[in-house]
Amino acid sequence: MNYQDGPEQFPRDFLWGVATASFQVEGAACEDGRGESIWDRFCRTPGAVAHGHTGDVSVDQYHRFPEDIAIMRSIGVRSYRFSIAWPRIQPAGAGTFNRAGIDYYKRLCVSLREAGVEATATLYHWDLPQALQETGGWPQRDTAFRFAEYVDICARELGPYVDRWITLNEPWCSAILGYVEGAHAPGIRDQTQGWAAAHHLLLGHGLAVGALRAETPAKPVGISLNLDTPRPATRREENVLAADRWMDLRTRMFLDPLLGRPYPSRHFEAYPSHRPPTIAADDADLIAQPIDFLGLNYYYEPVVGHDPNHPEGFTEVPSHHSTTAMGWPVVPRGLHRHLHWVSGHCDRRFPLFITENGCAVDDVLSEEGTRCHDPARIDYLRTHLRAAADALADGIDLRGYFCWSLIDNFEWAYGYTKRFGLVYADYVNQRRVVKDSAYFLREVISGGEPV
Ligand code: FCB
Repeated sequence: MNYQDGPEQFPRDFLWGVATASFQVEGAACEDGRGESIWDRFCRTPGAVAHGHTGDVSVDQYHRFPEDIAIMRSIGVRSYRFSIAWPRIQPAGAGTFNRAGIDYYKRLCVSLREAGVEATATLYHWDLPQALQETGGWPQRDTAFRFAEYVDICARELGPYVDRWITLNEPWCSAILGYVEGAHAPGIRDQTQGWAAAHHLLLGHGLAVGALRAETPAKPVGISLNLDTPRPATRREENVLAADRWMDLRTRMFLDPLLGRPYPSRHFEAYPSHRPPTIAADDADLIAQPIDFLGLNYYYEPVVGHDPNHPEGFTEVPSHHSTTAMGWPVVPRGLHRHLHWVSGHCDRRFPLFITENGCAVDDVLSEEGTRCHDPARIDYLRTHLRAAADALADGIDLRGYFCWSLIDNFEWAYGYTKRFGLVYADYVNQRRVVKDSAYFLREVISGGEPV
């Protein structure tokens, strides 16, 4: 046995990755013909985003991707999960495509390949062309068909360069935060629009799978969901039921249609206003097109209790766990439970990937400005990776792990106030400083550091 041999916690071909999204990192908002997105507009709505921050410059990955890829290479990641900005490809959300937009993603993918890093491309990470919001946005059925048209362009033009596709990122957030709670773009508060949006996002996913199969049949296709598998506040029946009802709303509503199962009818019976206004005859089959993997974004496990004062009769309650800079509880064992529940609920039908996991920390640079010591993030990553390793040891078909995020970035309504990166971004001069957590991940990936 040589000194490098230890117990293998992760298989040799485990897909280690890092993730970002176009609006959060690219900047270059007005360059090369990019159109306006709903997030550009939302950032300019007074009070919508902390400090009125925008995505205009962000960490300028549009110009600095070679440096970011060099960092990925030095960490040893095998795949980069980025997203394609629809308004760079179709500035007005329809019609012929913008060559400069396609060329940017080609350059990015070619550089990744040269660095030995696979391209995992998310097709929609929330930056809808504003022009499509003008015609109603996701609550309009037609938007699903516009999405399929855009995906078809991406498949044809970028298919040879992309290694794996993710259709949507977290449709719950697009539909509910965007159209019911108004906390995300386009900032609408309307139940009916929200549930129509949810259905049309799923329909768009199904149509997109069809387009990708037709153009790039060899490339795996999946979707990234933020499903909740909460614990009940107590063992009392009302709290157990509350946690289960929460799962109808947050989990079964988005996962079951993908599995060819109906929307949770118990939920619609209790909340008729949550039913999408029109579900056409073929929609269920379109949504349930077979996929090759399921992506899970896990940050924490909520605790849910009965609450008669809440419109839905249940709500998230405080827990004893320490919290991150987002105020989110740190619950690594919840990831283990989550992987087991999802795997069982899907009858082990497809492999799983963790497509996001990470935490926000109030990071500061060392005095000399060359290091960033982030022991809280190392702790978070180590404990969550241990939960993932335990799930693997239990036989769960987990194929990879993408850390959110490669680099500090625009955290939606929080603007630049929350740092999730393995790399520190100096927003004044765009200097990148690799954090200790990135060195930690490098050691885990190389097999030298057990979690
Ligand atoms: C997820 C989003 C991602 C990032 C993390 C912190 O919900 O998919 O873009 O903001 O949260």
